[in-house]
Amino acid sequence: MSLLIRGGKPLRGTVRCDGAKNAALPIMAGAILSEDISIIDNVPHLRDVETMSNVLRSIGASVRVRGNSVLINPGKRLRNEAPYDLVRMMRASFLIMGPLLVRLGVASVPLPGGCAIGQRPVDLHLKGFQAMGAEISVEGGFVKARADKLKGAEIYLDVPSVGATENIMMAAVGAEGVTVIENAAQEPEIVDLANFLNSMGAEVTGAGTSRVKVEGVKKLTGTRYSIIPDRIEASTYLIAGAITRGKVMVENVIPTHIRSVLAKLKECGAYLLEGPRSVEIEMPSRPAPVNIKTLPYPGFPTDVQAPFMSLLALGQGTSLISETVFENRFNHAEELIRMGAKVKIEDSNAIVEGVPKLSGASLQATDLRAGACLALAALAAEGQSEIFGTEHIYRGYSDFATKLRLLGADIEESGIPKRSYAKS
Ligand code: EPZ
Repeated sequence: MSLLIRGGKPLRGTVRCDGAKNAALPIMAGAILSEDISIIDNVPHLRDVETMSNVLRSIGASVRVRGNSVLINPGKRLRNEAPYDLVRMMRASFLIMGPLLVRLGVASVPLPGGCAIGQRPVDLHLKGFQAMGAEISVEGGFVKARADKLKGAEIYLDVPSVGATENIMMAAVGAEGVTVIENAAQEPEIVDLANFLNSMGAEVTGAGTSRVKVEGVKKLTGTRYSIIPDRIEASTYLIAGAITRGKVMVENVIPTHIRSVLAKLKECGAYLLEGPRSVEIEMPSRPAPVNIKTLPYPGFPTDVQAPFMSLLALGQGTSLISETVFENRFNHAEELIRMGAKVKIEDSNAIVEGVPKLSGASLQATDLRAGACLALAALAAEGQSEIFGTEHIYRGYSDFATKLRLLGADIEESGIPKRSYAKS
């Protein structure tokens, strides 16, 4: 699969974002905390959602997708082991560990490998489970955890890990007593998960702050819950409007969830009009250079770093991007350089010297946000680009080409990868 993009057209019009991928995945895992059926609404059609559905099916839950709603029936009998071939496709599969420990007292989940953006360890997840009394061992690439009854504990996270906060929170809702997570991640997706769990009868307080408290409860019931809009998708389409110097209205976004991104777009010279659940952007000229430092929420999101780099590649000066969350999240820079961008990587910093134009090229996406970055650059570049590795993009952006086409982009999908690498 590849994307063919002919650049140079300002995007104009309205695009509606879907539900948040990074809320849907933990919430789907959390649904198995109860034996009852749960229905989750506003779920995006994404490869990662399909993968999580298959992971839940592999441990015995039934999952039915109807439009943007997912019906999950965990049932009474779950299996405690998830298969390697599914977990290796998506590290978020590891989020079933906490729920399985609550439901079965035992869980065996493949240790997620690293990926293009970094090592992606899960030591903090395991530290939390151990603090609650679980015995953990790693055998044959699987993490095996056992706990007859999880006990509430005080847990300090060395880094405010999103996944660790979510996994520990889900384990804590079924533990005996109170769990406090110190230095918890504060992302909106954490709050969404807490709200979902509370709608099942859990007692989670403090989500969205660095101190989350969970009172364990005996039983959780099924629920119906609608997830928050995807703030990363919204940021991506705002940047698409900016980089093509167009005028784009992004609907189904909560502006407070992207405060840092809006601030940086404003610093670049964009005109922004905020509604309760929409933001309109207009970019009359080349962006002014800005400095960006990615941080845990509410800092600038690491997932928007790559898309924003494409905008700054066309800036009227030199910008500095510092990536503090992941150790290797500049893979997209090499591909931008092949389009004529001037980017220098020095450790965790990228120095981006803006150029007046980029030229279309054949490009390779290495992860979903890098893929989005290259598509945005191609939309602004002169000439045609072909982006390979679009399976990465479709992990996190539903109807990506269609949404851009509706904004006036000259973009089409082609099924047959045309570039054959010279046999080495
Ligand atoms: C979540 O990943 C998101 N994925 C990522 O989005 C996002 O980039 C990331 O949070 C940061 O915001 C989902 O929610 C499914 P972390 P996660 O644990 O939970 C270190 C996308 O593009 N760490 O907050 O894996 C880790 O190495 C994806 O949609 C430990 O050291 O991220 C990293 O440096 C990419 N030990 C930092 O914490 C641990 O046990 C942040 O990772 C866990 C994490």
